[in-house]
Amino acid sequence: MESALRQFAGKSIEDVRAYWNARPCNIRHSTKPLGTREYFDEVESRKYFVEPHIPRFAEFERWKGKKVLEIGCGIGTDTMNFARAGAMVTAVDLSDESLQVARKRAEVLGLQSSITFIQANAERLSEYVPVETYDLVYSFGVIHHTPHPENVIREIHKYMGSQSELKIMVYNRYSWKVLWILLKYGKGAFWKLDELVAKYSEAQTGCPVTYTYSRKSVKDLLHGFTVTRIIVDHIFPYSIQQYKQHKYKKVWYFAVLPKLVFRILEKTAGWHMCINAKLDKE
Ligand SMILES: C[S@@+](CC[C@H](N)C(=O)[O-])C[C@H]1O[C@@H](n2cnc3c(N)ncnc32)[C@H](O)[C@@H]1O
Repeated sequence: MESALRQFAGKSIEDVRAYWNARPCNIRHSTKPLGTREYFDEVESRKYFVEPHIPRFAEFERWKGKKVLEIGCGIGTDTMNFARAGAMVTAVDLSDESLQVARKRAEVLGLQSSITFIQANAERLSEYVPVETYDLVYSFGVIHHTPHPENVIREIHKYMGSQSELKIMVYNRYSWKVLWILLKYGKGAFWKLDELVAKYSEAQTGCPVTYTYSRKSVKDLLHGFTVTRIIVDHIFPYSIQQYKQHKYKKVWYFAVLPKLVFRILEKTAGWHMCINAKLDKE
């Protein structure tokens, strides 16, 4: 295994849990009172406005009447959309704070009967979630945040049959974002790349674990799976200061870039590597 893919193997799962408990993913996407319908609606519209490739990748409508296992649901934006589209969802996360918000969200949206939430470490998923076959195993932006992603992949295997699909998003090593972190925060110190990426990859600094993958290393990670599609997407073009105030003003170099050129850049050097896979045929 490349050394970059063992970089965080010594980190503890407790540190990962504490980090996501301190600030669940997207928790500040709305300024409305937390736990209200308005709050959850705003979280969703902001998320899919900035990341419109997520609904395209998840294909929520396709899973009507199907069983979906979501690993690392966070506060449940995608979870709600699978359930709203008519799927039966089992949603797990390591962070109890995130799950508390996600549970409340299901209640507010009247979707409790379609979702089972389970607090679980995905590296040992089968100790928490009964093993059965799901139509879709979905995990968006999660596997690269756990110390041993290869354990999660081994566990996922148990929940898939020959017709099941796997959809995961992991971070793209050869991306604009990695280059931006290296130049902005690392002043080019490429030998500290993995440390820098983890420190600055999320809205809250100091993420204990953030791996990044190339197309080749993600295929190596997905041992026992046949990768059917990989697409790369998403560059965040806005001024972070403005964005924190819920304003969408592009930084000057993206503001002057023609839309088509920006789109080509996203599709070649985007931060999100979205992978579809199936089990290997025996
Ligand atoms: C970047 S957030 C993504 C959340 C959600 N998928 C979304 O797109 O909004 C990463 C999530 O992964 C969860 N996570 C990290 N390691 C995990 C593990 N080993 N088992 C389960 N969840 C984990 C974190 O608690 C956090 O909620």
